[in-house]
Amino acid sequence: MQANDLDIDFYNLGFELIHTEWMYISDYKDNKWDNGELISFGSIEISPAANILSYGQGIFEGMKALRSKNNQIMLFRPMENAKRFNKSANRVAMPYIDENKFLSAVKKVVLANKRFIPPYDSGGALYIRPMMIGSGPMLGVAPAKEFKMIIFCSPVGPYFSTGFKGIDLLISKKYTRSSQGGTGFSKMCGNYAGTMKPAIEAKKQGYAQVIYLDSVHMKYINEVGAANFCAIINGKLVTPKLDGTILEGITLKSVLELTKKKLDMKVEERNIFYEELFDKNCTEAFCTGTAAVITPIGSITYGNNTRIYNNKQPGEITAKLYDLLTGIQRMDIKDVYNWIEILE
Ligand SMILES: Cc1ncc(COP(=O)(O)O)c(C=O)c1O
Repeated sequence: MQANDLDIDFYNLGFELIHTEWMYISDYKDNKWDNGELISFGSIEISPAANILSYGQGIFEGMKALRSKNNQIMLFRPMENAKRFNKSANRVAMPYIDENKFLSAVKKVVLANKRFIPPYDSGGALYIRPMMIGSGPMLGVAPAKEFKMIIFCSPVGPYFSTGFKGIDLLISKKYTRSSQGGTGFSKMCGNYAGTMKPAIEAKKQGYAQVIYLDSVHMKYINEVGAANFCAIINGKLVTPKLDGTILEGITLKSVLELTKKKLDMKVEERNIFYEELFDKNCTEAFCTGTAAVITPIGSITYGNNTRIYNNKQPGEITAKLYDLLTGIQRMDIKDVYNWIEILE
């Protein structure tokens, strides 16, 4: 069957689940993982006492498979996701998974579902969701004894369905997403539930997302919903220091490298006092992530103060970084860093 037999309009995709054919599942029991296998995408059965359901013992990753202009299928820095998966697992007392096994399972899912990968010129991607859940039953608060690793995928559209334009963000004075010593650096399921209500409230007021501040002083920039934050201040790229409360984004890591090596600009990883973003020395702001790619920030609001950047158009540095990053990701620019893993 060809891609066009699927009845999917790859040119008008959003970020909603579209079922594909295959998913991967592996079980951990008696202190070891089984070999894992591809099975038809569908529901799984777990006990109502499964640890994930009461205590939220679960982690996940988000990755994309893309098609190049000459129709190759590739992943962007997938080993980084494998390593982060284990870092998250460790924080919530879940078992280690061999990183090569993780990568090989991701590849199997992508290739088995390859007709769902949107074509190059659609700007879309196959979004891949690896996860691990504490599936074993548990009454008291303690780690499960049985776990499941599942990987499914869904075609998604480009983040910029309305073009590469700046989004409006609201700094929350009320909510935080993580705290020192907590789980903010990991992709633990529970980190996200608490961000849904703040996002709904911000959207009702016309903002695309929330910028969170640090939970101690409520002064320093933490993250944007599910993306990292960057600003251009005094001609330098400034981003919050990864202090254990912020997810260590793979897109961010790549953007910092491109800024230093390709734009020859200085990078500062430090506390960013939110008032700095309202100063004229702050000329651009954007966020980074697998889903967000590089999203320009058009305005930032704190209470009654709103700062608009570049008439809500992408700033010069934001646009250069976007072209560089997406150029490498789609293999339009030579990948001198070995970031691309070609599957076929
Ligand atoms: C809370 C949070 N911050 C940042 C990011 C960006 O990380 P990455 O660039 O690895 O996708 C994500 C998305 O994975 C996220 O969920």
